[in-house]
Amino acid sequence: MIEVRRLVKRFGLKTVLRGVDFHVEQGEFVALLGPNGAGKTTFLRILASLARPTLGEVRINGYLLPQQAAAVRQRLGVVSHLPLLYGDLTAEENLRFYGRLYGLDGLDGRVSELLARVGLAERRRDLVRTFSRGMQQRLAIGRALIHQPDVLLLDEPHTGLDQDACEMLDTILRDVAAQGQTVVMTSHDLARAEDLATRFDVLSRGVIVASAAAQALPPEGLLSFYRQALRAPAQKGAA
Ligand SMILES: Nc1ncnc2c1ncn2[C@@H]1O[C@H](COP(=O)(O)OP(=O)(O)OP(=O)(O)O)[C@@H](O)[C@H]1O
Ligand SMILES: [Mg+2]
Repeated sequence: MIEVRRLVKRFGLKTVLRGVDFHVEQGEFVALLGPNGAGKTTFLRILASLARPTLGEVRINGYLLPQQAAAVRQRLGVVSHLPLLYGDLTAEENLRFYGRLYGLDGLDGRVSELLARVGLAERRRDLVRTFSRGMQQRLAIGRALIHQPDVLLLDEPHTGLDQDACEMLDTILRDVAAQGQTVVMTSHDLARAEDLATRFDVLSRGVIVASAAAQALPPEGLLSFYRQALRAPAQKGAA
């Protein structure tokens, strides 16, 4: 569960998040949409405890960020633009490394299962620095799932993946959601987001300007909702 109240993020004099309120119940799958520069990555990085809020309150599973970041990280998986992998380790060594970091035992089975799930079983013994970008992205997805996190954060996870890998990721995300894990995913692929998510939030100029559950989308679909949201004047918390 994620609770964000009046979140502000500034970089120097520039205010990027201007009072974001955001609540996600366990098991929801939220697609966070918005134009380039809206603040989506900044927001996800704060949720992932990779950046600090300037003002406001951020709680994940009841733990406060950044004060209780260690407890949050234990139950959180992140797929970001930086794959956070070690180039001089093999695919399986990377997963084993992260598994140990989370204090997991009996990792062999888990590592094999994840490598198969992301389509890298045959490359398990190859060094990650020899991987293509899409292959690194696949492994980053495996890495994010190794400890079966309650909350999965993904920043444009389909970017750079080929058609098969995108479908593989969608299958993984549907499984994750079916298991009751919470997902927040940014995307510019509205069709994909519409297919996967149970809720859609639109971030524009640092505030959430619209939010709708999947069943509350207009009959014309997500694209129409999205365009409408960007036309509407920002209402909440605009500074
Ligand atoms: N470390 C930083 N220092 C200064 N400004 C930053 C920093 N990180 C992000 N910004 C600024 O914050 C704003 C939001 O950037 P962010 O990356 O969060 O947008 P985004 O919604 O993820 O966009 P995109 O769709 O292009 O990925 C941009 O104006 C960006 O220049
Ligand atoms: Mg971004």
